[in-house]
Amino acid sequence: MRVLKITVCGGGNGAQALVPIAARNLGCQVDVYAPLADEADRLRTGAATHGGLEVQGAVRAQALPHCVSADPAEVIAGSEIVILVLPAFAHESTLRQIMPFLDKDTWVGAMPARGGFELCAAHVLEEQGRGDVRLFGLQTLPWACRIQQYGQVVHVLGAKRVVDAAGRPAGSFGEVRPVLQQMLGLTVQAAASLLALTLANTGQIIHPGIMYGLFAAWDGTPFPGQEVPLFYQGLDESGAETLHSLSDGIQAIRARLEPDLDLAAVRPLHDWIVRSYGDDIVDPSTLRSAFVTNRAYAGLKAPVRQMADGRYVPDFSARYLTEDIPFGLAVSRAIGRLAGVDTKALDRVIAWAGARLEKDYLGRDMNEARIPQAYGLGSLQALLAFAGAG
Ligand code: NAI
Repeated sequence: MRVLKITVCGGGNGAQALVPIAARNLGCQVDVYAPLADEADRLRTGAATHGGLEVQGAVRAQALPHCVSADPAEVIAGSEIVILVLPAFAHESTLRQIMPFLDKDTWVGAMPARGGFELCAAHVLEEQGRGDVRLFGLQTLPWACRIQQYGQVVHVLGAKRVVDAAGRPAGSFGEVRPVLQQMLGLTVQAAASLLALTLANTGQIIHPGIMYGLFAAWDGTPFPGQEVPLFYQGLDESGAETLHSLSDGIQAIRARLEPDLDLAAVRPLHDWIVRSYGDDIVDPSTLRSAFVTNRAYAGLKAPVRQMADGRYVPDFSARYLTEDIPFGLAVSRAIGRLAGVDTKALDRVIAWAGARLEKDYLGRDMNEARIPQAYGLGSLQALLAFAGAG
């Protein structure tokens, strides 16, 4: 597949890392669609001032995006690949905005896909009569990265060695996989389907699981700055136990569906972290040690909010819950229910997180999550048919 131009949708950490990395690795035109607030202006100005967007740290690259715009008409047409590097709650609105400008047979994907990306994207494609558009998703963002100066410098704390990805129709994913691999400069391994990636999404385990471990017993007392816990390196035995129980819960769903679907990409969490981070992990012997000795996670703190008196409280509105429950754990849980699997371990964390968010993702607000049932797939047969059709 020949690629002359790609467009990155988003103006956050991951998008600003991808732009220079992709420009260098593909040597093609890289445009940016950044419609949120004044991001397009800030990105354009920042990159021009700095002589290009710069990625520092575990990966290094620097390049100017070709065109940055808040108007999809200016950047989407002519792209062979359009890639959404956005929190999952921005996927649907972004897909709707770009759809009218997509060339025939464009590949549109999400990095990361999170849970149920293909349910939402296939729905939008069908609604807009765009059956020609092909979809792809990556199981994760390849980097732990944070913007240091907007539009200028992004710091990559760690880069994964290998990332799973899948497409829809599944049979044509082989066409775009080598391009994605070249674009990212790491191994992109094909998973059998985007449904497999939904279950393989480890963010749904790690983020809500660690939040639960850190804060389920929090008594509401604000704490001083020096007590803000490290998010990953602060994982204790009981937090690791929660991660184990969630991973086992996902594996139970995998086991039930495996006769019908290839779910080899749905790895137990311990296998996944060791495979993804390799030598960045000093002691890979247990799940807990793999987290606390992973250099790529070093120093990252739990999400907190500062109070007027200078002390801190947990920030339950952080994406670790607002993204990873409705676009993560609740999706896998809903698939588990369709498959008749006991989802108690998942339910416990979803119910706790829901109470923090004033949402009942196990009942009243279930269809606000990106679950198959919300897209009319109310039975396992319907879900399997959807996955098969892909
Ligand atoms: P971010 O928080 O930096 O991205 C926010 C950006 O998304 C905004 O700046 C804006 O450009 C865009 N956005 C947000 N709401 C929007 C809306 N309604 N309409 C249009 N655009 C909107 O996110 P980041 O860090 O780049 O993460 C992207 C994805 O990668 C998320 O799913 C995140 O969970 C995941 N991820 C991020 C990692 C990291 O180290 N940054 C690591 C692993 C996964």
